[in-house]
Amino acid sequence: MIGKTRAAEAAIAEVKDGMLLGLGTGSTVAIFIKLLGERISGKGLEVLAVPTSYQSAYLAAENGIKLTTLDEHPRLDLAVDGTDEVDPNLDLIKGGGAALTKEKVVDSSAKRFIVIADGSKFVDRLGLKMPVPIEVLPFARMAAAQRIKILGGDPKLRDGGDRKDGPLVTDNGNFIIDANFGKIKDAGVLELELKRIPGIVEVGLFVNLAHTAYLGYEQGIKRIDRRK
Ligand code: 5RP
Repeated sequence: MIGKTRAAEAAIAEVKDGMLLGLGTGSTVAIFIKLLGERISGKGLEVLAVPTSYQSAYLAAENGIKLTTLDEHPRLDLAVDGTDEVDPNLDLIKGGGAALTKEKVVDSSAKRFIVIADGSKFVDRLGLKMPVPIEVLPFARMAAAQRIKILGGDPKLRDGGDRKDGPLVTDNGNFIIDANFGKIKDAGVLELELKRIPGIVEVGLFVNLAHTAYLGYEQGIKRIDRRK
């Protein structure tokens, strides 16, 4: 928890009055949203934000953050989002919270995209700890899974968990396939190969998108910037 809080605090320091923000999804972003709410109520900060999920939209509204859409503001100043894995190039695996599609749209619409995470999310090579979440049309789940296997993945349809029988359904009405590829050799190539499969809506590989990562540890914060 302390790592997530430190990372969220570091990102808050980059938020300036009048900014158009992208709000990612997850427990680390939830801390960021609460801190942002405190800045708005305590210091009169004014921002407009585009959320990437119902979770972030509702939490933002509860914390007094004014929301907008990409229709109104297609270009954002700053996006802040969590991650499931981040490697030394700042390439990411995202989608643990099944929000990867809107996250990728929003994060890539920002002039600057900051990743905030507990230090445990840092890996030498993507795929070491996490499968790749893939959003897929329900209609295409079996056909897509077969093609994912041909690319060397082990696809599993994500379950809805204890409180939902059957598969998880995303905010967009789709399913998530978690595909384990082991250590990923070239995330950019794999992302493109997966995106060529009909029925796949989006892939949780975020390549060449993040500008800075703030990784929080008990001892402090580590900042990594993307190499130019
Ligand atoms: C949601 C995501 C999240 O950003 C990712 O799962 C990290 O979440 P947390 O901050 O709770 O560890 O990609 O789709």
